[in-house]
Amino acid sequence: MRDNTMKRSILNMLSAGMMTSVLISSAVFANSGVHLEASNINVQNKTSLLRGAKNFANYCQGCHSLKFSRANRIAADTGVSDEQIKAIIFTRDDDDKPSKVGALMTSAIPHKDAANWFGSVPPDLSLVGRSRSADWIYTYMKSFYEDDSRPFGMNNTVFDSVGMPHVLLDLQGVQAPVYRYDVMHHGHNLEASFTSEAEANKALEVSRVFEVVKLGLFGDSLMSSHKDEKEAKAVVEANTKYNVLFNKKDVASFDSQAEADKYVQDNPKEGKYKVIPKSSYSVKSSHKIDKVIDHLELVKEGKQSPAEYDQTVRDLTNFLAYISEPAQLNRSTYGIFTLLFLGIFFIFAYFLKKEYWKDVH
Ligand code: HEC
Repeated sequence: MRDNTMKRSILNMLSAGMMTSVLISSAVFANSGVHLEASNINVQNKTSLLRGAKNFANYCQGCHSLKFSRANRIAADTGVSDEQIKAIIFTRDDDDKPSKVGALMTSAIPHKDAANWFGSVPPDLSLVGRSRSADWIYTYMKSFYEDDSRPFGMNNTVFDSVGMPHVLLDLQGVQAPVYRYDVMHHGHNLEASFTSEAEANKALEVSRVFEVVKLGLFGDSLMSSHKDEKEAKAVVEANTKYNVLFNKKDVASFDSQAEADKYVQDNPKEGKYKVIPKSSYSVKSSHKIDKVIDHLELVKEGKQSPAEYDQTVRDLTNFLAYISEPAQLNRSTYGIFTLLFLGIFFIFAYFLKKEYWKDVH
């Protein structure tokens, strides 16, 4: 019997743990509602890493540091000399002297000013390849779009209200959003999508009803549905009380505004009257339209073609993915050596076993 209870409580614990992890992972996914593009990077591609390093030094290091990395480590990992990497990642230190090839890759930007300029300090990008994933960085760098409501006139579909300006605008060109109008049922069920707002409105007219709901602690309960909004409002009105307050205290309650107003007129007193309508009913529309960005469209060409720009961003992403775990370049080599060792060791172990067991048989 005791055993059974134990088993059950262990099972309960396990299922609770599973539920929590399911909840956590769904929360994480819910957060990243946008579709990420596959970056298709290859950290073994050393020319791509070097192109990424060069672009990083040119376009990003003014704001972002890689405070755990040194240029000579990148040189060693990509198989170029210190002189060659200096020509690629040419930076200056605080005294405006060329920085040493073994120096940490800091950024010159003063943090306090940066917070004022961009609303947030540009973060160190040493680990972004792992905290955000390569696909995220790749999609992020391709998802800046024109948005006049933002300080720099740009927004980002992956990172809403982003503080970073689109530093590769020259290369990519300008993207503008193409909107889609989703007709949603009860907030979350997609019923239809339209490219034109007028058509979406037409569809809305056809399927929408006005629901009178009673607001409750555990959600709303539906009282009645009406095609006509006025009708629904009349139901709410019929269930509304008008409370008369005098100096913030309840003094009377009526079924209509007119009756409450009349009471106030008929009882003039020194002090303050107030009439407050109260109802636990309210009107909700069964359908509504969500305006969402369907995709981005290039409206002004940049210096690079879309394919060239993809490659630029892929190289940058590749570089950041490598920086976040430089040892990954060597990991597969270690693996091959380990397997070779095990293979050779097996031969010795086999003959040793034969020798030991010779006399037993
Ligand atoms: C003018 C300064 C500036 C430059 C140049 C710049 N960034 Fe940024 N970047 C920022 C700021 C500021 C943020 C923080 C945005 C925020 O929190 O709203 C940021 C955020 C990021 C993030 C997101 C980090 C995270 O996990 O939240 C990535 C990735 C990134 N930048 C990559 C780049 C790359 C790649 C380049 C070069 C092509 C670059 N940035 C150039 C200012 C800059």
